[in-house]
Amino acid sequence: MIYFFVLLAVVSSVYVGEQVCTTFNADATLCNASGYCRHDGTICVNLPCYMVNEVAACRSGPSGSGIPTGALSSKCDSLEQFSLQYDNVCVDKGDGKLNFAFVRFSKTTDGSALQTTGTTPTGVGALAATEANMFALYTINPWKSPEASQSAATLQTELEAILDRYILFYQVLIETTNSHPFYLERTAYQALQLIRDQVGFDYTMRRAILPKIWQVAEIALFRIAKFSPAYYQTNYYFLNFASCPYSRRELKINGQLHTVRIDWTDYLYTVNGYMQVYSYAAEQFGIRNALSDIIALRPTTSVATANAINLDTGFTAFYLEWTWTDTNLVVVEKDIKLYQFDESAATATNVVKQITTTITCTTATKTCTTGLITTPITSATTRINYYFSYGPGKCVDKTEVQCKLSIEQGTQCNYNAGLPTDYKCS
Ligand SMILES: *[C@@H]1O[C@H](CO)[C@@H](O)[C@H](O)[C@H]1NC(C)=O
Repeated sequence: MIYFFVLLAVVSSVYVGEQVCTTFNADATLCNASGYCRHDGTICVNLPCYMVNEVAACRSGPSGSGIPTGALSSKCDSLEQFSLQYDNVCVDKGDGKLNFAFVRFSKTTDGSALQTTGTTPTGVGALAATEANMFALYTINPWKSPEASQSAATLQTELEAILDRYILFYQVLIETTNSHPFYLERTAYQALQLIRDQVGFDYTMRRAILPKIWQVAEIALFRIAKFSPAYYQTNYYFLNFASCPYSRRELKINGQLHTVRIDWTDYLYTVNGYMQVYSYAAEQFGIRNALSDIIALRPTTSVATANAINLDTGFTAFYLEWTWTDTNLVVVEKDIKLYQFDESAATATNVVKQITTTITCTTATKTCTTGLITTPITSATTRINYYFSYGPGKCVDKTEVQCKLSIEQGTQCNYNAGLPTDYKCS
């Protein structure tokens, strides 16, 4: 019996995940179906680790162990634990854990990206903003676009049509009693995942789509204030939402191995508004050295939506406190900085150090706190975001996935239209 298995192992010596991607150069279907390679039209290339579905490609054992050597095992490790919440099975070599910025939610197959589902299917662009149509709008699934078989330009058109419709519906979505914020949150994270993972999207396409995603996220916050006026918090790994009334005086948002607390005790408000926040993992936008998620504060004293979404332009006198739980992290106070940028930032130079505040760290409690920030954070045209960081970073070998929107600081990560690769990081 034992001899039989030894013989079998010798005969069938190629295991799942073992063949290097270039083996499939001539067969795009086999290449794409492998779960760890992608055909770029000419050759079959390795997928980035976080995009791998075939965990065998990331596994290897010591020589003599009998464990086959996966084709990507020199650049990826398999995750030690898998979750049913996401598709990820591999991580970059040495990372040791899932990176929240690169969580892939399983793409649902319900509905259509082009039209509503139901007795009278209606094209996305033809939906008038009414309550009945709001429920129809929910049935549209941006993930239903057949990515592999159509151009990135078509995909962009479809995605923008969906986001535009959510934006057009903002009053209905915010005001209607039966409007659930989840559908807005879902559309925002679905779209973020698409622009992160779709290799056909270039910098210009992503920059066109992104502001629309943030508009949908902001509409979600205004809906949340009416839906759950006391407190609300949701976490989708690379995107999070939270909201509470000013009278609570602080809000804590959790990211991977850290928390950011916003404290506005010193803000003397005359109207009890809402502190509204969405936050997102910095690394999905090329910011590799962030110590916290990017915190988008969107306070308001008016959730009435008759004409426009109104942010509280007087909101000021608050501080941010970063708490880390990563036991491997050695924090040196003088190196910790608060960076800020306007949501519309297009290049690395728009991301700047916040110079009006000093940062104080307490190792015992693992916290770093800013001084009082007294510059208003929103105006009619600005929406300032913050994050804690060690300062200018490096793309080094991570250009594959981390520089997509080119807002990382440092010349090595600047957008370079002349580069022949999709990722355009110099
Ligand atoms: C393989 O995938 C790429 C994109 O990931 C796509 O452009 C190509 O059409 C696919 N090829 C086949 C044969 O499915």
